[in-house]
Amino acid sequence: MSIQKVGVIGCGLMGSGIAEVAARSGRETVVREVSQELLDQGLARIAGSFGKAVDRGKLSAEDRDAALARLEGTTEISGLGDCDLVVEAIVENLEEKCRTFAALDEVAKESAIFASNTSSLTITELAMATRRPERFVGLHYFNPVPVMKLVEVVRTLATAEDVLAEVHEYVRSTGKEPVSCGDNSGFIVNRLLVPYLLDAIRAYEGGVGSVEDIDKAMQLGCGHPMGPLTLLDFVGLDTTYYIANIMFEEYREARFAPPPLLKRMVLAGRYGRKSGRGFYDYGGK
Ligand code: CAA
Ligand code: NAD
Repeated sequence: MSIQKVGVIGCGLMGSGIAEVAARSGRETVVREVSQELLDQGLARIAGSFGKAVDRGKLSAEDRDAALARLEGTTEISGLGDCDLVVEAIVENLEEKCRTFAALDEVAKESAIFASNTSSLTITELAMATRRPERFVGLHYFNPVPVMKLVEVVRTLATAEDVLAEVHEYVRSTGKEPVSCGDNSGFIVNRLLVPYLLDAIRAYEGGVGSVEDIDKAMQLGCGHPMGPLTLLDFVGLDTTYYIANIMFEEYREARFAPPPLLKRMVLAGRYGRKSGRGFYDYGGK
């Protein structure tokens, strides 16, 4: 296995989980944030998740300590210079991601594989911001990363076969199940999930039911682990809004259009759990 050291860019909701899973799989892992404050918050989130895993008997205290010792943080892109695989998990914004990958390309090893955890952007467009489109894939994880088994592995027209094979092997070695996807916006899961989540907002806007009853209906009527409005708060309404705009721009289909209420909630800072309030009130951050 040539992927020995993993880099993660962004230590928010997703980046922290991706870094945790890499460190738990025995790899040296380095995670990059834009400021020391955000890095400290992200590393504290990872430590909290490790704690939960120990409490639930999923991880021994010795394994937790060993995994934490394999994990380091940096605010410098050059801190990722000796990684074999770098997974990007920053804000869902094309310009920001392209700028980040172009900077990474300057400092990374020639042999390093780059991956984006984007939910909806075109992997080809991100790959073309670098000089290594053949060593570029999508690696789409699911929230909460330590628990969800799936990773969508996305190939572009340029991705080399040996890189795909290496990445599939890496995903399996971390205890996850890969599925192969072509480079279409939203891949498999979000192409089906995002219209459903947006429809739940439209149902609420249209007075079909209360927030609680819409969630209860889908949980008890369809056996979903979370109702759609709880899931939206969990994913982040800001992130969902960016995703919907990108998918609507790509497909020009009404089912991907962000409902007006979603836009207004984002404008009002109601991002869901991460900001303390979304469809539900979490009593502060
Ligand atoms: N490390 C390891 N295991 C952990 C853990 C951690 N940090 N935290 C929890 N677990 C384990 C628990 O031990 C438990 O395992 P067992 O069932 O074997 O005992 C399991 O995970 C579930 O934990 P909980 O009992 O605490 O949680 P729950 O039953 O209330 O389920 C949930 C929580 C997994 C989040 C569940 O509600 C769920 O699946 N929700 C839907 C999540 C979803 O749809 N995610 C996808 C979002 S879309 C996306 O991510 C893509 C995008 O681009 C937007
Ligand atoms: P988030 O807002 O929780 O975290 C993003 C983090 O990236 C922030 O902490 C921010 O400070 C940091 N960041 C921004 N620019 C950076 C840079 N140049 N270098 C390093 N760090 C930088 O967002 P998230 O929910 O973790 O989403 C991250 C990515 O994962 C997005 O592309 C999103 O579409 C995708 N995604 C999200 C989910 C989800 O459920 N939230 C699921 C799958 C994929």
